[in-house]
Amino acid sequence: MIACAACVGLAACSETSSTPSPEPAGFADRIAPLAAERCDGCHATAPGGSMAAYRTARSLVTPGKPDESLYYTLPARHPAAWGDAAGLVRAWIEAGAPE
Ligand code: HEC
Repeated sequence: MIACAACVGLAACSETSSTPSPEPAGFADRIAPLAAERCDGCHATAPGGSMAAYRTARSLVTPGKPDESLYYTLPARHPAAWGDAAGLVRAWIEAGAPE
């Protein structure tokens, strides 16, 4: 982990890594735990689906464009917000919303 953090974004990283996941800022690692904690109190049983599920999140995201992604901007009059995690969610979308 430490070695990989030093070369985030470098293709060379995947040559020395034996893990199948080349994305250090992926949804499962970084976003899902936050969504489970901050969103699924309301959304876990909502018709739209859990906000901690990649498929749900991905359907609400335009990769590379956080300001056009409902998952980041949230609907008008929405009762909750990302708060201090907003920067992380924004960075994930800007990175192409990797799983
Ligand atoms: C306090 C309850 C509550 C929490 C917590 C909450 N939401 Fe919501 N959310 C709602 C409600 C209610 C709606 C429906 C609003 C409407 O349709 O006007 C909604 C709608 C949405 C929508 C519109 C699309 C859809 O699937 O309905 C998105 C996207 C969304 N929420 C994302 C999130 C995210 C991301 C989080 C965590 C940061 C979150 N919500 C946390 C209550 C909540």
